[in-house]
Amino acid sequence: MSNTAEIKVGGQSYDLPIIEGTEQEKAIDISKLRGQSGVITIDPGFKNTGSTQSSITFLDGEKGILRYRGYSIEQLAEKSSFLEVAYLLVYGQLPTTEEFSRFTDKITRHSLVHEDIKTILEGFPSTSHPMGVLSSLVCAQTAFYPESLDPNRSASEVDLGIIRLIAKMPTFAAWSYKNKIGQPVNYPDNKQNYTSNFMKMMFALPAEEYEADPVVADALDKLLILHADHEQNCSTSTVRIVGSSHASLYASISAGINALWGPLHGGANQAVIEMLENIKTDGGDTKKWMAKAKDKEDPFRLMGFGHRVYKNFDPRAKIIKKAADDVLEKLGVNDPILDIAKGLEEEALRDDYFVERKLYPNVDFYSGIIYRALGIPTDMFTVMFAMGRLPGWIAQWKEMRENKEPIGRPRQVYTGFNERDYVDMSNR
Ligand code: ACO
Repeated sequence: MSNTAEIKVGGQSYDLPIIEGTEQEKAIDISKLRGQSGVITIDPGFKNTGSTQSSITFLDGEKGILRYRGYSIEQLAEKSSFLEVAYLLVYGQLPTTEEFSRFTDKITRHSLVHEDIKTILEGFPSTSHPMGVLSSLVCAQTAFYPESLDPNRSASEVDLGIIRLIAKMPTFAAWSYKNKIGQPVNYPDNKQNYTSNFMKMMFALPAEEYEADPVVADALDKLLILHADHEQNCSTSTVRIVGSSHASLYASISAGINALWGPLHGGANQAVIEMLENIKTDGGDTKKWMAKAKDKEDPFRLMGFGHRVYKNFDPRAKIIKKAADDVLEKLGVNDPILDIAKGLEEEALRDDYFVERKLYPNVDFYSGIIYRALGIPTDMFTVMFAMGRLPGWIAQWKEMRENKEPIGRPRQVYTGFNERDYVDMSNR
């Protein structure tokens, strides 16, 4: 294959370079096309448009492959821990024993947050969704660490900001929940590991001993690994594009949290459980809801099904389905919505509408089920996703800044009025 592509505009030919990635992915570089020919390309939803060259995550939606820094998600989920994966994503290599011990030590020591965070927290009404609180608290870090606003900080100062954010995220996440339910917050416990510490801050009650169930902590850790990065999706692209204006790490990640919140992205795990609850309340007739999902006049979609890039299976869904089965069995959970979930899954997998459109259960179909079994409340599901995705967002932000990428600024094709004269209000 030649390493240029030819495009003809109005009879004139232009040669455009083809660039190739390490997994032989090819892309036509159109960055100079407008300057040469006067035309732009258009692709709403960026369905066929790359925004960057990245060495963090490789994903092949057709083959169901997902790798972080070259390591398969299957191996990482089986053998690694969330903090090790965080190190891998942010610094590019698996840590040595010494590097990992230094990293975990720093993460543990920075988990405490400023006491004034409590005052901010108390300003939120109990009706607040924890995702809104989380994104606000993360953005508020710019006030506690104003030096983070300086785009020319040294690499070691940037690194300290990264450590602080990974360390404090479980504290913000757990506190956003405690505030919502009106309980006093728990402080981080340096004797716990990352996941158990989060669980303790979430679930411990005043004057009661709390020890995280290792089965639950392991399952949560695995879920965090599965969510840790997913190349250029909606929230990650948001982080990169906000950061491309040289906004601080905290402001960029806060924006990513908001992008993740929507039900078509990270909010799908909450939407899955709400959908299953609705089906149960409605009598549990899965066929009726399948018909609704297929009816083009009905806005209802089967939440947890379909994916922009995975068109055969979502490798994370495979791992998580097994983890869900194990945890449910070990914890002896018997939940009627599980039967509804299984029924929907079986019907969708043999239904022509879903098969033709390559709509398979995605990671969020199962993550909601497993979070529920682990005792995580529904409106915390997307917060769990955000905790998992944090190292990926950070790695992508860091890569974008280190590569000195230009500010993100798409073009458009204007379809509004041509120039017209202003008319006084009395004459309209
Ligand atoms: N239920 C019913 N029909 C669906 C569903 C669904 N869940 N998903 C897609 N379709 C149909 C569409 O109506 C469309 O049909 P058409 O060709 O007849 O018009 C076709 O499948 C293609 O759908 P698009 O929306 O064009 O696909 P896109 O790649 O843009 O969207 C998305 C992917 C947003 C994930 C979509 O499948 C969806 O809304 N799923 C439900 C929400 C969900 O689970 N989101 C989580 C994604 S995973 C994540 O963010 C971690």
